[in-house]
Amino acid sequence: MKLQAQNISKRFFRQNRNSNYFYAVQPCDFDLEEGALTVIMGRSGSGKTTFMSLLAGLLPPDSGGVFAEGKNLYTMKDKALSAFRAAHLAVVPQGRAALDTLSVWENVMLNARILRRENEETAGKAKELLDRFGMTPLKDARPRELSGGELRRMTLCRALVTEPEILFCDEPTGDLDEENTRLVLETLRDYAHAGHSVLLVTHEPEAAAYADRLLKMKEGLPEASDP
Ligand SMILES: Nc1ncnc2c1ncn2[C@@H]1O[C@H](COP(=O)(O)OP(=O)(O)OP(=O)(O)O)[C@@H](O)[C@H]1O
Ligand SMILES: [Mg+2]
Repeated sequence: MKLQAQNISKRFFRQNRNSNYFYAVQPCDFDLEEGALTVIMGRSGSGKTTFMSLLAGLLPPDSGGVFAEGKNLYTMKDKALSAFRAAHLAVVPQGRAALDTLSVWENVMLNARILRRENEETAGKAKELLDRFGMTPLKDARPRELSGGELRRMTLCRALVTEPEILFCDEPTGDLDEENTRLVLETLRDYAHAGHSVLLVTHEPEAAAYADRLLKMKEGLPEASDP
């Protein structure tokens, strides 16, 4: 599924000499394409997470809109937007995203459960993903017992179980060693090439080598860059 952002921007309050607001994301257009891994890199504070949140329907922009199948996500009613997001997209956020009262397995199956797709197919997919990321021995553990890198891999498994058409990942390799970083990047690239739309936001220099499309975020403006 294609996602098109038109003239989106986001300002936050911050007092300085000339004004009380600054642009975390400057007005810009952006298309997220199917079948391609799009990577956005950029310095800390350049607006990557804000930009991803706007695209993912999580943060209403101050201008413009985000369109999928001709509909603007931000003119939908709350319930319709939630249903749309659940059905078509998944997010691996930058911060912690685990439900601590659930086991690793239950966390990984969470999206499937919400979508009422807790069946043999999704369970098989979850097993396969846990195996690929070396997480099978931890499936009965609680998130609190996991390392930062294990938590990241768990969250990624959860996002992939229901095979969302659009996948957003914010620094998914943040706490990972070289081998697991490569595994995650390969997984995201293969997932994109299987016909999904994937946006990866990261500091990870290695990610550039996996990108079909590379952008650099500079002071809230995503600019094309050579992969
Ligand atoms: N809710 C908010 N209120 C005010 N300012 C905010 C808010 N969220 C983010 N900002 C500011 O907007 C700018 C962009 O933040 P953002 O989180 O998008 O950066 P980032 O590129 O993802 O950084 P990092 O690489 O460190 O994750 C930063 O200067 C940040 O301080
Ligand atoms: Mg960020």
